[in-house]
Amino acid sequence: MAIRLGDIAPDFTAETTEGTIAFHDWKDSSWAVLFSHPADFTPVCTTELGRTASLKEEFDKRNVKAIAISVDPVESHLEWAGDIADVGGTALNFPIIADPSKAVSETYDMIHPGEGDTSTVRSVFIIDPANKVRLTLTYPKSVGRNFDEVVRVIDALQLTDRATVSTPADWQPGERVIVAPALSTVDAKEKFGEVEEVKPYLRWTPQPGV
Ligand code: BEZ
Repeated sequence: MAIRLGDIAPDFTAETTEGTIAFHDWKDSSWAVLFSHPADFTPVCTTELGRTASLKEEFDKRNVKAIAISVDPVESHLEWAGDIADVGGTALNFPIIADPSKAVSETYDMIHPGEGDTSTVRSVFIIDPANKVRLTLTYPKSVGRNFDEVVRVIDALQLTDRATVSTPADWQPGERVIVAPALSTVDAKEKFGEVEEVKPYLRWTPQPGV
């Protein structure tokens, strides 16, 4: 069955480039970006994992751990790591799960036979400190993901967890946000100060905490 937003991310134990990992223990109280790629030694995947390695500082600032997965064996991942570093300019600094049995890929519904074969598509699961799945993305094999968007949605999730606001279309950190419907305009003004009511249901306020 597909994993839905709000579900607890299934736990698993798997071999990775950093040894055996029990997912929930490894993740601990961090956020996690669990993302699948179709195959090692392929061009789009090499750029994606290189880009993820280059984002380590941004992920650390946000208490996020990245972990990749494909159905290739760990020896293949380890050999490929050199190419990821060559192409992306940063050494691999997160684990890649080896899932030749497809146990994890099938649990997370990462294999879409209509996309060509029995390897994983480009899935992303953003999982919060309580192990809840907070956001999912699924891209086809031919289209590389936008990792700026992955960082942006983590910022939006963390902001909307700590303040009673929502983020509008195309929001970028620092821009104005929307007062959540649960908050009355009177209460929003008390809480945030400046509130602009464009419609009774659309109230803008500067991003709290900026
Ligand atoms: C790639 O990473 O370039 C790729 C992998 C599998 C299918 C298509 C593209």
